[in-house]
Amino acid sequence: MDLKELEGKVQEVRAAWERAKAALEGPEALEEVRIRFLGRKGPLTRLFSALKELPPGARAEAGRLLNSLKQEILSELEEKGARLAQETEERKLAAESYDLTLPGRWRPVGRLHPLTQVRLEIEDIFMRMGFDVASGPEVETDYYNFEALNIPEDHPARDEWDSFYIDDTHLLRTHTSPVQIRVMKSRRPPVRIICPGRCFRRDNPDATHSPVFHQVELLWVERGLTMANLKWIIEEFVRKFFGPGYEMRFSADFFPFTEPSAQVHIRRPGGKWLEIMGAGMVDPAVLSEVGYDPEEVTGFAFGLGIERMAMLRWGIEDIRLFYQNDLRFLSQF
Ligand code: PHE
Repeated sequence: MDLKELEGKVQEVRAAWERAKAALEGPEALEEVRIRFLGRKGPLTRLFSALKELPPGARAEAGRLLNSLKQEILSELEEKGARLAQETEERKLAAESYDLTLPGRWRPVGRLHPLTQVRLEIEDIFMRMGFDVASGPEVETDYYNFEALNIPEDHPARDEWDSFYIDDTHLLRTHTSPVQIRVMKSRRPPVRIICPGRCFRRDNPDATHSPVFHQVELLWVERGLTMANLKWIIEEFVRKFFGPGYEMRFSADFFPFTEPSAQVHIRRPGGKWLEIMGAGMVDPAVLSEVGYDPEEVTGFAFGLGIERMAMLRWGIEDIRLFYQNDLRFLSQF
C-alpha cells in the first residue's frame, strides 16, 4: 500500500461515516456506530495497523490523516451524544410538566378514635400532675381481680362484677383495680400511678352498657393523704377536662376495697347526670395485703369510665356508637 491508496481509503471511511452520522438516532445507535468505526475490528484500526506497510517516508503524513479522521469521528460522536442526552432530558421534562388547573386527588385522612383521644387527654392531665402510666394484663387471676381487693369468694359484691371466666381461676378483668395490687406489690410508697385499660363484664349491650369498655384507674399512696386530697384531684381533673359549664356531684357509695367510698356524677349543660367513676380511700385491708403499713401510709383510688367521659364531652347518648366503626360517626371527632 502507498500513501495515495491510503488517502483513498480514508476518503471512503469518511464518506461512510458521513452517511452513518446522518442516519444516527438514539443512544444505542450511537454506541453501535462508535464500535463499527473505532472498534478493534473497525476500518480505522485496520488502517492504523497497515501504516507499517507504507514506505517510512510516507508514514508520518499517513498517520496524520488517520489521526485527524479519528479525532473528527470522536468529537462528532461526542457532540451527537450530548445533543441526544439533552433531547432525552427535554422530552422527560416535558412529560413531567404539571397541570396546575387539575383538581387535586382526594385521599381520606385518618384520625384517632374518640376513645383514644379521650384516653390520651386523661393521661396527659395526670402525667402533668406527676402520675406514671402503668399497665396490667387483661386476663387476670381471681386473686388480683377480687381477693386481694378485699372481695373474698362468695362475697355478694362479686355479683356486681359479672365476669367472663376462662377457667377456674382466670377471668377477663372486670375493672382496672387489679393493677393497683400489681403496682403496690412491685413498688414501695409513695406510689402515684394511673392505668388506662380495657375491662370486661357480662352485661347486655344497651345505650349505656357494653361488655367491653375502658377505664382509667388512679392510685396515690403516701404518708398523710386524706379524702380532701382525693376530692381536690378529682375536681381539678374534671375542671381541666371539661372546662366551664359542667356540674359535678359527689355522693356516698360502697366498694370492698375503699373506705369510705364515693361516686362522682357529671352533668353537661342541659344534659342528664352521668356517673363517671367510683372512688375512695384505699381500705387498710388492701394496704396490708400488699405489705404496706396502714398506720404509716394512706391512699386513694378511683376507677374512671372513658366511654362516659367521651359521652359527656360530645353529648353522645349511645355507647354502642363507639364500637360500630361507622365512619359517619367516627369522622366527626
Ligand atoms: N373498680 C371499681 C369499679 O370498676 C371502681 C373503683 C376504683 C372504685 C377504685 C373505687 C376505687 O366499679
